[in-house]
Amino acid sequence: PVERKRGTFTCAIDQGTTSSRFIIFDKSGTPVVSHQVEFEQLYPQSGWIEHDPYELLKSVNLCIERATEAFKEKGYCLEDIKAMGITNQRETTIVWDTVTGQPLYNAIVWSDTRTSRFVHELRKRDDADKLRELCGLPLSTYPSSVKLAWMLKHVPAVTAAHKAGRLSFGTVDTWLLYNLTGGAGKGVYVTDPSNASRTMFVNIKTLEYDEFLLDFFGVKGVNLPKIVPSSDPDEYGVIAEGALAGTRIAGCLGDQSAALVGQQAFSPGMAKNTYGTGCFLLYNTGTEPVISKNGLLTTVGYAFKGQKPVYALEGSIAVAGSAVKFLRDNLGMIKHSHEIGELAAKVENSGGVVFVTAFSGLFAPYWIDDAQGTIFGMTQFTTREHIARATIDAVCFQTRAILDAMGRDSGTALNALAVDGGMSNSDVCMQIQADILGLEIDRPQMRETTALGAAIAAGFAVNVWSSFDELKHINKDDRTTFWPKTTVASREQLYKNWQKAVDRSRAWVD
Ligand code: G3P
Repeated sequence: PVERKRGTFTCAIDQGTTSSRFIIFDKSGTPVVSHQVEFEQLYPQSGWIEHDPYELLKSVNLCIERATEAFKEKGYCLEDIKAMGITNQRETTIVWDTVTGQPLYNAIVWSDTRTSRFVHELRKRDDADKLRELCGLPLSTYPSSVKLAWMLKHVPAVTAAHKAGRLSFGTVDTWLLYNLTGGAGKGVYVTDPSNASRTMFVNIKTLEYDEFLLDFFGVKGVNLPKIVPSSDPDEYGVIAEGALAGTRIAGCLGDQSAALVGQQAFSPGMAKNTYGTGCFLLYNTGTEPVISKNGLLTTVGYAFKGQKPVYALEGSIAVAGSAVKFLRDNLGMIKHSHEIGELAAKVENSGGVVFVTAFSGLFAPYWIDDAQGTIFGMTQFTTREHIARATIDAVCFQTRAILDAMGRDSGTALNALAVDGGMSNSDVCMQIQADILGLEIDRPQMRETTALGAAIAAGFAVNVWSSFDELKHINKDDRTTFWPKTTVASREQLYKNWQKAVDRSRAWVD
């Protein structure tokens, strides 16, 4: 028989764009067990990206089942898990029938660009320039607002439910929370400020739904989840079924906010960059929102119960890991995503190739909706290795553009950049990032910082930890630093070439 081990644990669901995972952490912030499942990406038309809402749920439940089995096999007790946190891909929009709980359409994923014409029309409205100041986000295909408006116009079942007053809207956090706590008739119907701030329905200062915004997008009369603190023992309910039935959910954060918490970027001026499906740089600006003048987003970092909300400036890059997936699945250039680094390392540089990976247009700081994925500078000298290298370069150059914009908005430059997420596992990628930025890159040993952030939010609510000071030691040992090795002149020349390429990646046919 396995020896019974006791302790204090928290756990977190991390429902990302291409995979779901579930991790159980001990009190020192170390993962004890985890399980990850990839799920299907649906591409019904060029530019459209959808998920099946039930598949998301199934993948999460499977992860919980497998990880809790492993936890028990190691001799741990499920009753020692004090609370669960949820973190999720943001903006992705799900609608369901309020009475039956049945989804009325597939989830429209954050990177979907079907709304680009609609966005173009909205930009012409006289009152459109009020949006950024009110909600912190620029008008683009990215937030939930335009996705919901699209569904209301194009999906008859959604229009009918709206007319009948039975249309429930939610981002992925809300959908999961609703279903995990019992679904139709029983489930909680809530969201947290970090997720809510990505819808474009919320006033960034008051963190409440805003009548002007709801009216602007024509979504009045849609049922919206109650906005509750990101860390709260009472608002999120308990798991209804399965291995963790009865476990309290006590934390909820959009994945990029969770990574900010997981990296413990609790003070103004601290920042992190997460390389996931996309890549997102968040810079803590303290308890007042800063509205960007340089193409960045204003977002909620976290808003724990009883504390003032903490805001961040965000630079969002739509395509990072998804470009690696493209090389793997569409071009068959690699078998596994992690091979990208090895392939790129076989060449000194991209051999003059610049790949603007604008599969969803370009997000921050450019906001070019009609940009398209474009490869420049190919000759007969060009090999797979050069293209692999140019793919990594693309996310690193965009990170540079975002840091430049952040420097202009905040007036201060970063000394070092804390990183996490898939691509950060590759030494090659992180060295390229250091070289392109001319900045020190600081990588923690444990890179599951997104899940850790959600577990921290949950643990805080139930007193597993009671002050940020107690977390100081978490994930502080064994960090790796990558130092820039290139000259300023070569760095600047390559960046100039990148900027030219960005300019030329705009749509060239109607
Ligand atoms: O805003 C979208 C973001 O939350 C998705 O994150 O990690 O799935 O690329 P990720």
